[in-house]
Amino acid sequence: MSLTKTSQTSIMQTYNRLPITAVKGEGSFLYSEDGTKYLDFTSGIATCNLGHQPEAIKKDVTDQLDLLWHCSNLYHIPKQKELADLLTAESCFDQVFFCNSGTEANEAAIKLVRKWSGKETIATFTKSFHGRTLGSLSATAQPSLQDGFGSMLPGFEYFPYNDFDRLSEIEELKPAAVMLELVQGEGGVRPADQEWISELVSICKSNNILIVVDEVQTGMGRTGTLFAHEQYGFDPDIMTLAKGLGSGFPIGAMLAKESVASTFGPGTHGSTFGGNPLASAAATATVKEVVSLLNNAKEMGDMLINEIKSLSEQHNSINEVRGLGLLLGIEVADAAPFVSKLREKDVLVLSAGPNVIRILPPLNVSKKEVEQFLEKLTDVFKSAEGKDKA
Ligand SMILES: Cc1ncc(COP(=O)(O)O)c(C=O)c1O
Repeated sequence: MSLTKTSQTSIMQTYNRLPITAVKGEGSFLYSEDGTKYLDFTSGIATCNLGHQPEAIKKDVTDQLDLLWHCSNLYHIPKQKELADLLTAESCFDQVFFCNSGTEANEAAIKLVRKWSGKETIATFTKSFHGRTLGSLSATAQPSLQDGFGSMLPGFEYFPYNDFDRLSEIEELKPAAVMLELVQGEGGVRPADQEWISELVSICKSNNILIVVDEVQTGMGRTGTLFAHEQYGFDPDIMTLAKGLGSGFPIGAMLAKESVASTFGPGTHGSTFGGNPLASAAATATVKEVVSLLNNAKEMGDMLINEIKSLSEQHNSINEVRGLGLLLGIEVADAAPFVSKLREKDVLVLSAGPNVIRILPPLNVSKKEVEQFLEKLTDVFKSAEGKDKA
């Protein structure tokens, strides 16, 4: 039997690709096939947090490449142990499970919550994003992303984010866990309100409800501290990481307090590649490097948000500027034209939903690069509006 090939591309069309063919990266810059040098304020969507091709990571990965690429989790893996020791030393958690992506880390968290509690109910929040596999997608309270995929995993109850009035319903429901991002990244760069978080945490602590923070996007220094929950002043029970953890080398992790983590025993969960020697080498070097860049991330984040807020005073097209550290969003009526105009000026940014321009520079971005970005951003707003606010 022969099938006639009709498609024009061998890649499934799950992404609307932009007209850039990326061939090389260096620090804050991405080079395309046609030789254009772009100032990359996307960091591979909060993944290349140390910029492109960071030397320290390259060296450790190359050293590991010469020793051992992969071996099964049936054996002890020294780099994986070093990474777990480092992550637990730098956080409030006691144990780590390694996997390969954010969605997998969240799957692991959902399974751990279910096994620990013997219950299925997990409260999540509107406009959240937790991943594309069926469990994580069920946690993602965005019906448009779930459409067409049949029944979602049972047990998820959605609540409005930052809404004080509905917190009492979470207390009445007494779910096994709440799961949330502290800044909703894909959902429009929406930081959680500090008082709302304090009330939510207090409800969870007094009702034995686990708190799962999805720090896949907010973690690894992105918000100016190693993990965003540190700024909100509470200890979660479970945290998920991926994206920036490996500086672009695929790795995910679920961290938990011992009392919860001990529910998982041999055979309860696993991953062939999770925490393999190469991924662990990349992530160990990354954690060490990120810790030394937190001050720069905070300083450059403050500079960016303050300057963009001043810009918003002169331009009616900016509705709101928000974010934490180097995870920043500018809300406008329609983000796409601004993203395109910046690209025409060799600057890469993202959108988050239809009306937010998302800005994610690397944590080691220089003041000069931030100034260069601000200059281009100002030009784009000026030419889009044609006039300044009176
Ligand atoms: C908060 C959050 N959780 C989970 C994910 C899914 O991560 P991955 O694409 O590595 O599966 C993402 C990806 O954007 C995310 O932003």
